[in-house]
Amino acid sequence: MKQVLPVQAVQGNVKVPGDKSISHRSVMLSSLADGTTNIYGFLPGADCLSTISAFRRLGITIEQHEDRVTVYGKGWYGLREPSEILDIGNSGTTIRLMMGILATLPFHSVLIGDESIARRPMKRVTTPLREMGAEIDGRAGGEFTPLSIRGGKLRAIEYHSPVASAQVKSAILLAGLQADGVTTLYEPELSRDHTERMLRSFGVDVESFPGGVRVRGRQTLTSPGEIHVPGDISSAAFILAAAAILPGSHVTVENVGMNPSRTGIIDVLQAMGADLTLHNERDINGEPVADIELKYTPLHGTEIAGNLIPRLIDEVPVIAVIASQAEGTTVIRDAAELKVKETNRIDTVVSELGKMGARIEATEDGMTVHGPVPLMGTVCDSHGDHRIGMSIAIAGLKAAGETHVRDAESIDVSFPGFFAVLKSISC
Ligand code: S3P
Repeated sequence: MKQVLPVQAVQGNVKVPGDKSISHRSVMLSSLADGTTNIYGFLPGADCLSTISAFRRLGITIEQHEDRVTVYGKGWYGLREPSEILDIGNSGTTIRLMMGILATLPFHSVLIGDESIARRPMKRVTTPLREMGAEIDGRAGGEFTPLSIRGGKLRAIEYHSPVASAQVKSAILLAGLQADGVTTLYEPELSRDHTERMLRSFGVDVESFPGGVRVRGRQTLTSPGEIHVPGDISSAAFILAAAAILPGSHVTVENVGMNPSRTGIIDVLQAMGADLTLHNERDINGEPVADIELKYTPLHGTEIAGNLIPRLIDEVPVIAVIASQAEGTTVIRDAAELKVKETNRIDTVVSELGKMGARIEATEDGMTVHGPVPLMGTVCDSHGDHRIGMSIAIAGLKAAGETHVRDAESIDVSFPGFFAVLKSISC
């Protein structure tokens, strides 16, 4: 249990750990490529470490150094049949992207994860991969772990994904890279496109078009030599949220990934009236990066829906914290995907922030938050969900009295050192 005490304000410059989505992909693509890749800024969080250990079990040598991760890729078919089960812990990105990769490989493998993973839907990936020719089985007809995969020769498909999910899109694109023919994926809204961008830096031809993306099969990946992972905007969001709710705050989060498919939180803060400035805008490895400065100003409620949702889906819990301190009502719609994240994040946000006095109502596909309300410290539970744990902690900075976060270790999934970073800017 972690104790959080109220602070006056947050001030100063900070860096946040590497982007989780980009870190996963950097290890995956480097493992599948010909040549050695040095990855700088890799996130050493539990989820990305699960990706490293899975690829080690598939026969890839991966070294973790102080300042970098080195992956000795052996080419796509250099992966070998694992003699043990691949345990991917809490990581939805690892399991779903690996399903796409394993579907192409002519051997048998078994994937499991923790209790949260065991509840998360996998048919969204199983179904299209079966259509491509992979043999996949699992509980409830392939919906839940444990999953067993026997991959091999795949055929290209045209697939209309019912959900805007980068994990689904990436699994199909990766499988499509070794299929016969051209694979096309259509999605209802644009989901994060880190896979497409990174594949290009490995020399792969990927065509993005409005509404979808297309790859030709039988392409090889060539290591770019180095990958530099920017800070995770989903982690930066917690620091920005602290500054947005504590009067007198002034922070700059440096070196943050600003991929437009991820910057919905910036748009929302600006729509709520935040004093936010971007500095040092630059491009690293095909990904936009900037420093984000935020000075406290009183905020007002807003409406969040439609194609904004996939651009901020992981930030909804902390947006609820911000909205609880903003003037008026914030309405979040079209976000039913929240129900199948690490926890049902509509339920966990409503219950945990509700315990602290926040006025949040669950709706069919999102939530309504009324503000501003005074928050009171109490005992809350992360339910093993890193972003719920961090959202409670940020609310705790503003709450009266002590806040206790149960199962705060889950925060290590995406933001190791979270409490130390918070402490370094607290006044
Ligand atoms: C991720 C995609 C998103 C996101 C998750 C990371 C990725 O999930 O919520 O934290 O790295 O591809 P979905 O693909 O399920 O939307």
